[in-house]
Amino acid sequence: MSRDDYPTDQPAVVTCGLPYANGDLHIGHLRTYVSGDVLARSLRTLGQRTAFVSGSDMHGTPVAVNAEREGVTPEEFALEWHEKYEATFPEFGVEFDNYGHTHDETNAELTREFVREWIEGDHVYEKEIQVAWDPEVDQPLPDRFVEGTCPYCGAKARGDECDEGCQRHLEPGEIENPTSTITGNPAEYRSREHEFLRLSDFQEYLKGFLGRLEGTDNARNQPREWIEGELQDLCITRDMDWGIDYPGEGKEDLVLYVWVDAPIEYVSSTKQYSERVGSDEFDWEAAWREGAPGPGEPMDETPADAGEIVHIIGRDIIQHHTVFWPAMLRAAGYNEPRAVMASGFVNLRGKAFSTSRNRAIWADDYLEEGFEPDLLRYYLVTTGGFQQDIDFSWGRFQERVNGELVGNFGNFVYRSLLFAYRNFEGTPEADPSEEVLEEIDQAMEAFRAGLNDYSLREASQAGIVLSRFGNEYIQRHEPWKLVEEEPERAARVIRDCVQLAKAAAVLLSPVLPNSCERLWEQLGEEGSVHDAPLAACLEDPSGAFGEPEALFEKIEDDRVEELDEKLEERVQAASAAADDTAESEQEESEDEDAPEGLEPLSDERIGFEEFQELDVRIGEVLTAEGIDDADELARLEVDLGVETRQIVAGIKRLHDLDALPGTRVVILANLEPATLFGVESNGMLLAAGEDADLLTTLGDSEPGTKVR
Ligand code: 2FM
Ligand code: ZN
Repeated sequence: MSRDDYPTDQPAVVTCGLPYANGDLHIGHLRTYVSGDVLARSLRTLGQRTAFVSGSDMHGTPVAVNAEREGVTPEEFALEWHEKYEATFPEFGVEFDNYGHTHDETNAELTREFVREWIEGDHVYEKEIQVAWDPEVDQPLPDRFVEGTCPYCGAKARGDECDEGCQRHLEPGEIENPTSTITGNPAEYRSREHEFLRLSDFQEYLKGFLGRLEGTDNARNQPREWIEGELQDLCITRDMDWGIDYPGEGKEDLVLYVWVDAPIEYVSSTKQYSERVGSDEFDWEAAWREGAPGPGEPMDETPADAGEIVHIIGRDIIQHHTVFWPAMLRAAGYNEPRAVMASGFVNLRGKAFSTSRNRAIWADDYLEEGFEPDLLRYYLVTTGGFQQDIDFSWGRFQERVNGELVGNFGNFVYRSLLFAYRNFEGTPEADPSEEVLEEIDQAMEAFRAGLNDYSLREASQAGIVLSRFGNEYIQRHEPWKLVEEEPERAARVIRDCVQLAKAAAVLLSPVLPNSCERLWEQLGEEGSVHDAPLAACLEDPSGAFGEPEALFEKIEDDRVEELDEKLEERVQAASAAADDTAESEQEESEDEDAPEGLEPLSDERIGFEEFQELDVRIGEVLTAEGIDDADELARLEVDLGVETRQIVAGIKRLHDLDALPGTRVVILANLEPATLFGVESNGMLLAAGEDADLLTTLGDSEPGTKVR
């Protein structure tokens, strides 16, 4: 039985994956939270009773490792980050109904209740397993305290996840070639007793569940292969001090695995919300428990009165939400999620963010640049499909803002409201035209359909499509020509435009909450646009209003150049620092056979096809000159046979630039262009070592010859 379309009569809970309380947020993280916020606001616009909840993930080794590095307790460390996140989300318009954390009493208590239910239902057993151990510090190495190789795909893996390879969850003891992250020593294995949740009890249930699950295709399809074979049970305890104590007798030295108490925070956070607003306003049990069969009992279909639980996560934690979590819920007698939406990542100019290399757009930096949160929200939600990785560059950001927000939506509402104000002091008295009402109706339908399809991009585009129509409509009817000769026709056109602006404000309010609230005020509408139901799109606009102001500001080219330069400098500085650290770490651990100062050869092989993707060419330097203000950089013009390229290289201090013209060099021609100190670099000059010894040719290959 498929579920009813939204809005339904049941309460909905929209959750976002909990951020580890562990470090600064960047716009890659924000993609999840902004999407959750847009979904929650959109569902409310449709008339769905919705709680939007999340919290900080305080436990686990990511937090413990970093707290230790900083010499503070994990609790102090995590609480500080938790408070920071609580303050940051609203600055991006992300307004949770409740934002808790996994270490609070509500969650500790509820987590223990869940586990007791599992124990009572006989879904938990004890087993002796081999855990990684550091002999030097004589302690076990749970999760991120150990690194090694993924047994499934051979990629480098950290603790409990293969985050650079197949993304699988790894059980204790599974990682191959384990090394301790505390001392860098090879780890040993030692026997320890741990508690396991028998996931295999839920194998059949999970197959049915995946058949019912809604959301993005990746979340519905990827787990199928994981549950086809024998389902591995989940080790739910860890040898650590930091976490929620395991509730079983005689197990005081064990805490629960972070992935036990973290998703339970979804429920705890909803409970806290209910306790704050009262269960008449929102009943957490109605959402999470109503109609659910008892703990561990089979569930062949979703109970008709179950809540609409929608999880928004990054695609790296699909397995946790579509296999472990539904089994945990069923084992405790809770309802299952209706949908899981797993988003792709955000890349920076084609490459993954690297927090260690400071190669990211940080949430704080974005705000410090003075940009409105709405602009980023729009970019994150409407660039590419939800499952796709999306790329961020300041240039693309500028393009979308200037094209769609300034040029289309902003332009339409400003010109319409200004004309209405100047000529009619607000909405003219006239009847709306059928064509416009029809167009609004279609946009409302597109919004509804987008949401029911879990496509936030489609839902958010409905208002943009409407304002594009509005621009075309006003242009087609030219009210500025009609106003003298045919004032009634002019009034009708402008009344239509005000109606379109009002509808666009409602439809775009989830993605552009601040701008649409301003527009709502400019339209002279009562209350908040965030309380307006979808039907308000077709309700008569208010009467009088004052002179409007532009909703968005154009981003100029020189601003983008400045932002690109800043970013590049920051990345270069951080990369240099990271290389220095890598070098010194390497010096310490260099194996005895490696000659001094040389890195060992990489163990990671690439295929010939990957090599062929590099377009490496012979070039001839035509000109070379230093770049003013840059200590290291030079601008070169290089003849590549087929064309002349401008290339920026860090050779200003290392080479006699005047002697370079005429030199044959080797160029990586298909590297993404970058702007350094305001100069575009279109390719990379290949050079060896610290002195940038330029690669050249032994024979006389002509410029443009491909290196194979
Ligand atoms: O992967 C992570 O960042 C985890 N902190 C997500 C937890 S989501 C949930 F299930 F708790
Ligand atoms: Zn793997």
